[in-house]
Amino acid sequence: MDLKIAVLPGDGIGPEISEQGVAVMNAVCEKFGHKVSYQYALCGADAIDKVGDPFPEETFKICMDADAVLFSAVGDPKFDNDPTAKVRPEQGLLAMRKKLGLFANIRPVETFDCLIHKSPLKDELVRGADFICIRELTGGMYFGEKYQDDEKAYDTNAYTRPEIERILKVAYEYAMRRRKHLTVVDKANVLASSRLWRQVAKEMAPKYPEVETDYMFVDNAAMRMIQDPRFFDVMVTENTFGDILTDEGSCITGSMGLLPSASTGEHTPVFEPIHGSWPQAKGLNIANPLAQILSVAMLFEYFNLKEEGALIRKAVNASLDANVRTPEIQVEGGERYGTTEVGQWIVDYIKKA
Ligand code: IPM
Ligand code: MN
Repeated sequence: MDLKIAVLPGDGIGPEISEQGVAVMNAVCEKFGHKVSYQYALCGADAIDKVGDPFPEETFKICMDADAVLFSAVGDPKFDNDPTAKVRPEQGLLAMRKKLGLFANIRPVETFDCLIHKSPLKDELVRGADFICIRELTGGMYFGEKYQDDEKAYDTNAYTRPEIERILKVAYEYAMRRRKHLTVVDKANVLASSRLWRQVAKEMAPKYPEVETDYMFVDNAAMRMIQDPRFFDVMVTENTFGDILTDEGSCITGSMGLLPSASTGEHTPVFEPIHGSWPQAKGLNIANPLAQILSVAMLFEYFNLKEEGALIRKAVNASLDANVRTPEIQVEGGERYGTTEVGQWIVDYIKKA
């Protein structure tokens, strides 16, 4: 297969992990005989500094022209600490989601046995937890009508029926391929937008008779996730709830540096780690490249290249078993590997496989 990849390294540790993602992509393509080409593009604080726009038109064109986007991270403290800043790196991410029509954000919450001791939850609660959060990504409060003056401010949580239907369809399709259990998370006891979500879900559920659908209020879901994370298989929810719940999800597994995600929708899909740009670690060769590398696995799987994805996952597991790990997940007394060393080890494993 011919693959045209837009690479958006972004800020902080972004460029370092991006390099490892590309190296792994190259190794896999070589092994399986795929032809891959890359177009690099600016985004985030880096793009603001260079061209004054966190998601420049040129970057948008490169993304639209590609088969997939390999995204790393955006964000820089110089903007976080300046509330008057008019342009912010995060706006680049939101612009990318909106312009590429990326309405479905797929965030798997997976545990790695060898990292369970890093979880804030008890081993017996979290071991084996494995669910996917499908977060609606281009609607709700993030993009609804906003107003702000010194006395009053609001964000509108607007959803239309087609927006809800298309994300529920994605969620049902995932549930059909997994354990056939879908939890629709909302706040239908208070919010009108949630009541429409629930109404549409109730209408759609009979079309998927094999899937057990349940409905849960978001506050209850937040609690259930720490009390009994294995309850969940596929969870679907609106933009803001999904933002909050996926941070919770990524930390209960103890492996937040390892979780990839995919955003899909109308145009080119984007694959990226769940973690942020960790500016303090920039240039230190200590950032964990595994979430980025696993997003490359998700990229292959998106194109139904299952063996390619599986080989990457196998290589990542082997690196963990061999204790080839970056400092934050290294076992006590274990040797410390850098970003590039972990990436290289995985590349070598793939070449030898
Ligand atoms: C995420 C992030 C973004 C969001 C920020 C950086 C705008 O937290 O991808 O979850 O809120 O969606
Ligand atoms: Mn978030």
